[in-house]
Amino acid sequence: MIDNRPYTFNVALPGGIPNRFELHTRRTLKSMHGQYLDIEAYNDKLSKEDTLLYEVYELSRPEVAGELIHGISIVHPGLVGNEYFMTKGHFHTVLDTAEIYYVLQGNGKMVLETLQGDWAIEELTPGKMLYVPPKWAHRSVNTSLEHDLITLFAYPGNAGHDYGTIETQGFRKLILIENGEPVIVDNPRWQEPAQREVDL
Ligand code: PA5
Ligand code: NI
Repeated sequence: MIDNRPYTFNVALPGGIPNRFELHTRRTLKSMHGQYLDIEAYNDKLSKEDTLLYEVYELSRPEVAGELIHGISIVHPGLVGNEYFMTKGHFHTVLDTAEIYYVLQGNGKMVLETLQGDWAIEELTPGKMLYVPPKWAHRSVNTSLEHDLITLFAYPGNAGHDYGTIETQGFRKLILIENGEPVIVDNPRWQEPAQREVDL
């Protein structure tokens, strides 16, 4: 049964692993099939090792509107070709649900876009709070080659994750390294979202 008493938990830095969590998800290279621009570099890296890219520690709550699912996301540093390690990224299944992120450690960017093709890139540096409004897909990118990008997140219990849309159409913008610096480039494989009949 769910514990409905108030609680606190600690997130010790560096490291960022909370001292309480119910779910620990580890995403490796093979779960990012089709997402990295340089397919050859992706296949080459995967043939050597199914590298750990990021981890999520979640404090689970009932998946209902009044609850907030929260936890810690840790994106490790690294490159696939010229592209930084990043999360899969997703829309929420219930599109009308928002999310907040607070950056605890590291440097990165949040890549965001809507089903209408609007896009945004927000800087992630320690102490920054990011608000992801309803209807915006979001992906965290670690632009450090040395340190983890550690964020705290919270979103409504009923939000759900729609990974399929991004797996199919990709994100419109990619974050690559150029002369040691992150640059924003157009994703040549991005597919314009199919117009939907419902009012999004
Ligand atoms: O719900 C969120 O947006 C985060 O908790 C993410 O799930 C987390 O950062 C991992 O990303 P993804 O779910 O896209 O694999
Ligand atoms: Ni989300």
